Amino acid sequence: MTTYQEFIQQNEDRDGVRFTWNLWPSSRLEATRLVVPVSCLFTPLKERPDLPPVQYEPVMCGRANCKAVLNPLCQVDFRAKIWACNFCFQRNPFPPSYAGISDANQPAELMPQFSTIEYVVQRGPVSPLIFLYVVDTCLEEEDLQALRESLQMSLSLLPPDALVGLITFGRMVQVHELSCEGIAKSYVFRGTKELSSKQIQEMLGLMKPAASGQQGRPAAPQDPSATCRFLQPVHRVDMNLTDLLGELQRDPWPVPQGKRPLRSTGVALSVAVGLLEGAFPNTGARVMLFTGGPPTQGPGMVVGDELKTPIRSWHDIQKDNARHLKKSSKYYDTLANRTAVNGHSIDIYACALDQTGLLEMKCLSNLTGGHIVMGDSFNTSLFKQTFQRVFSKDYSGEFRMAFGGTMEVKTSRELKVCGAIGPCVSLCAKGPSVSENEMGVGGTSQWKVCSLNPSSTLAMFFEVVSQHNAPVPQGGRGAIQFVTQYQHSSSQRRIRVTTVARNWADAQSQIAHIESSFDQEASAVIMARLGVFRAESEEGPDVLRWLDRQLIRLCQKFGQFNKDDPTSFKLSESLSLYPQFMFHLRRSPFLQVFNNSPDESSYYRHHFVRQDLTQSLIMVQPMLYSYSFHGPPETVLLDSQQLLQDRIPSSWTHIILSLSQTTHNFKET
Ligand SMILES: *[C@@H]1O[C@H](CO)[C@@H](O)[C@H](O)[C@H]1NC(C)=O
Ligand SMILES: *[C@@H]1O[C@H](CO)[C@@H](O)[C@H](O)[C@H]1NC(C)=O
Ligand SMILES: *[C@@H]1O[C@H](CO)[C@@H](O)[C@H](O)[C@H]1NC(C)=O
Ligand SMILES: *[C@@H]1O[C@H](CO)[C@@H](O)[C@H](O)[C@H]1NC(C)=O
Ligand SMILES: [Zn+2]
Repeated sequence: MTTYQEFIQQNEDRDGVRFTWNLWPSSRLEATRLVVPVSCLFTPLKERPDLPPVQYEPVMCGRANCKAVLNPLCQVDFRAKIWACNFCFQRNPFPPSYAGISDANQPAELMPQFSTIEYVVQRGPVSPLIFLYVVDTCLEEEDLQALRESLQMSLSLLPPDALVGLITFGRMVQVHELSCEGIAKSYVFRGTKELSSKQIQEMLGLMKPAASGQQGRPAAPQDPSATCRFLQPVHRVDMNLTDLLGELQRDPWPVPQGKRPLRSTGVALSVAVGLLEGAFPNTGARVMLFTGGPPTQGPGMVVGDELKTPIRSWHDIQKDNARHLKKSSKYYDTLANRTAVNGHSIDIYACALDQTGLLEMKCLSNLTGGHIVMGDSFNTSLFKQTFQRVFSKDYSGEFRMAFGGTMEVKTSRELKVCGAIGPCVSLCAKGPSVSENEMGVGGTSQWKVCSLNPSSTLAMFFEVVSQHNAPVPQGGRGAIQFVTQYQHSSSQRRIRVTTVARNWADAQSQIAHIESSFDQEASAVIMARLGVFRAESEEGPDVLRWLDRQLIRLCQKFGQFNKDDPTSFKLSESLSLYPQFMFHLRRSPFLQVFNNSPDESSYYRHHFVRQDLTQSLIMVQPMLYSYSFHGPPETVLLDSQQLLQDRIPSSWTHIILSLSQTTHNFKET
């Protein structure tokens, strides 16, 4: 007999899934009364050293609007070679290659231990990964020198056949040609003029001239050999690019006293996006922006170049006094949308003592699954080590990065999907399993996740459909299937399929069971994500009031107390940590903006909505280690009751969040 603790851990290890409730209430009304929605944290590419991918493709249900993947929950008739889909009940014949299957000879995807399975797609072209560096040259010499070295070092970490390109910017934007024999040539753009994708491609000579006789038709993009002038395989250009990076000079335009340097970040990014857009749609590509200050001219400008005008603060924003905020955010949002459509991702490495405009630019990374790293200087170990970690490898020597992902959710009939919160954008796939009740990014059963790593985690929200007078019959199970397609760092296309099920329970007669199936850690993180998601569009106090209301309702539902006796209040073990987590969350920089700049708030929130459960818990709740003479230190509650006689006090560990296996460091607070 396993406890729920063990059950939850096993399911996380095997499927990368943590549900708020591990028994599901059998009607919509009962589900609402449980306060915390039926939802889960899902880590699509959770590292599974014990799960080698299978070298064939998934078998799918033949019903056009289902296409669920064959899984261990399907009923199989081995004699007739037929399987019944557990989502739509369609009976499907097995494909001819499965002729040899029998009870004793089952394919992996039917075995219970393969509720998560990964397939390698054999067809389709294999395309190399692309890394496009976009480098700010308005840096102090010390920063520029450190950045040159980090960039040179990174060339040795890239996959040898990856394509690499370089754009530099200051007052002007330069796209560097990498194929020239000996002479370094570059194309120069003015930093003040907004350009369409087509104009950029024409100026870079990426358009084939329209063939005669086809007048009126737009010039056909793309001439691949032309693109190659800007994006070359690392192994071919790494010597020359190392030289080029070594010779990078500070922006030559003089900066008058009392002025900021003119920084054309907006145009530089639109050139980068435009360069990749025509030539490499839906190919794994990372645009990596390295910047040392705010954009100060042209589209996407965050602050003017007069130093006496400070960059916007929360106070300015609340007073509606942030002149460039709306226009600038809109510019980057549009750029982010275009990037996401192409399946590319944008990282921002911003190192400066003042703000750099992360608030305006955050969507670039938020919508495309990119990293954001914020530091004081490029000459710090924080930046250097974090940047190296982007290229870290897993147990089998593969890069911990995946590209161009799409995630689809299929649900059994009693459930609908309400939305997702995480580094994703909607693919607007409507269908019978999509709820009208949106939570997070909703109205769809498919999302695009342009870039993923093994810890990228989405919160997924569901709705129980059955009405109160016609609840789901007892004894049944609800099922959910996640189908994640992506480009592996080895360039293979892969499909990972995770199929999970939980029992239905009647919330009236079995409330104690449902309570003990509560995963308070997952629930706390999910409610926190909802809070952070709200905080992006609502006033801070409203979000706190909302969180408080949810906590009070949950305590009313499950707490035990005698009337008028507050000291008698008790929560069962499965809920006991939850209120404390909310206490810390209320005070955390994810919800409080006091003492943080708008950039810092954006940065914290950006990280919070993508981390896995453990990292999320650590971010919100400082850990207290208890040292005793009787064994290794253990983590305990932040609670005065932990001050036991035989324990050594003063063991508060400062929260320095160097995220163990993830690619970015959290700024020391
Ligand atoms: C970077 O920082 C280190 C230590 O603070 C210092 O020794 C070094 O000179 C700095 N690098 C540059 C290029 O200034
Ligand atoms: C790299 O540089 C060398 C010498 O600087 C030059 O001869 C060679 O043609 C360059 N190669 C490319 C691909 O640019
Ligand atoms: C970005 O795309 C989303 C969804 O397609 C849309 O709702 C939003 O308005 C777009 N934003 C901009 C600035 O284009
Ligand atoms: C990410 O971008 C979306 C769309 O603009 C926004 O709704 C969401 O709140 C953002 N999330 C964070 C954490 O910035
Ligand atoms: Zn089906």
